[in-house]
Amino acid sequence: MSDDDKRLAAEAAVEEVRDGMLVGLGTGSTAAHAITAIGRRAAEGLRIRAVATSLASAEQARGLGIEVLDFASVAAVDLTIDGADEIDRHLLAVKGAGGAMLREKAVAAASARMIVIADGSKRVERIGSAKLPVEVLPFARASVLARLGALFDSVERRDGGDYRTDNGNLVADCTGWRGADPQALAVMLQAIPAVVGHGLFLDEVDAAYIAANGVVTRLERGDASG
Ligand code: 5RP
Repeated sequence: MSDDDKRLAAEAAVEEVRDGMLVGLGTGSTAAHAITAIGRRAAEGLRIRAVATSLASAEQARGLGIEVLDFASVAAVDLTIDGADEIDRHLLAVKGAGGAMLREKAVAAASARMIVIADGSKRVERIGSAKLPVEVLPFARASVLARLGALFDSVERRDGGDYRTDNGNLVADCTGWRGADPQALAVMLQAIPAVVGHGLFLDEVDAAYIAANGVVTRLERGDASG
């Protein structure tokens, strides 16, 4: 994993930001590089407004002079740039190591285009090795964890149960999908009422910029065959 590669991927993606756009700002160390690059372009005169997928990203962006709107009042976003924990050639991704997957998915779903940025360590043949974060309503903790236990080999409450998302919910980090394919797993997770979000991004990602050893590769949805 290289911070230079994260920055290169982020800067390549930020080239897609155009004057007048409403931009979705992702969360995490790679997205932070994108916010820095957008801030730099804004300081040079690019007129953009933004929505943020986490309180931390909103704070970083405002600190750079970027206007950050309340997403509650935004119907559509032009372009979102965000990190990922795993991404494959079909642009299926796992997100949420930073705990922001619910807001990230809401912003991605409202976006005309969503770009993942990552260093080469995130590129995988097939998603499913990284921990899959599941956001859980604390009210229903025990019953949801029991149901997740039937779907995964291991279910760990993040920070021993002390972790809370920006939405006030807890996160279960789940490993070992027991052979479920991602689409089937997403359906099963969504069928648990007090699961309020999860890190499977199966339809949202339109493109990815992945940097490895200083070389940036762009993947577009539909490019991969087979
Ligand atoms: C946060 C995320 C992040 O985008 C993802 O975890 C990648 O983070 P990083 O760029 O720090 O490796 O999904 O919820």
